[in-house]
Amino acid sequence: MQRRPLIAGNWKMHLTQKEAVALAQSVAESSNACLDRDVMIAPSFTSLAAVCAAVQGARVLVGAQNIAWEKEGAFTGEISAPMLNDLGVAMAIIGHSERRHIFGEDNAMINRRLHGALQGRILPILCIGETLAEREAAKTLSVLEAQVRHGLAGVSGERMHQVVVAYEPVWAIGTGRTATKEQAQEAHAFVRQLLGEIFEKNIAMAVRILYGGSVKPDNIDDLMAQPDIDGALVGGAALKAESFDRIVRFQ
Ligand code: PGA
Repeated sequence: MQRRPLIAGNWKMHLTQKEAVALAQSVAESSNACLDRDVMIAPSFTSLAAVCAAVQGARVLVGAQNIAWEKEGAFTGEISAPMLNDLGVAMAIIGHSERRHIFGEDNAMINRRLHGALQGRILPILCIGETLAEREAAKTLSVLEAQVRHGLAGVSGERMHQVVVAYEPVWAIGTGRTATKEQAQEAHAFVRQLLGEIFEKNIAMAVRILYGGSVKPDNIDDLMAQPDIDGALVGGAALKAESFDRIVRFQ
């Protein structure tokens, strides 16, 4: 099955509003030149409105780096789906390893956020990935299985069409140490097979699974050549127009 590639940039806690708008404009140019793939950028919350306005009409989706499960209420520090809809935000990254490991978000909370996104018409990117200790203890597949099963609990097959999964081994994020294409492919194939068990095979075949963790211009082509890798979630290399442009134009 043909899955439309998605290249997503996670800007994390970087860039002022002015810098974010300038980068967004250059990403919009790259993306307008590549009609066969989707491009998403996720600025910090403070730049979302300005970036949405700057790329209006361009072929680039804007994403949030997290999302609340409730629509409104006493949830200091949180941003909800209606607030994101209001700006034109289309997607949200959920369960990023930094949220899990630095801010203590667990699978149950991540599942609630995912439902908050789906109910609020925001497409979720569910991030999963093992730590180095888990990989060395041969627990990679069981960790991924738990993150997928709990993260997607209660999601219907129909809704699953709107979900993107991102496999990001924690040891590869921001370290310059990318998973080999074989390691990445093995994890992606495992996740797809698992999705087939939880949902149906045709749903699993349609879900986009992104790879993330030190994706760079010099490894994107090899990663994208793997049969179960449908795109990339890019951190550091998404902060420079040139390197992100090359990643968007993967061959
Ligand atoms: P990196 O980050 O590309 O800087 O490793 C990826 C991510 O955290 O999504």
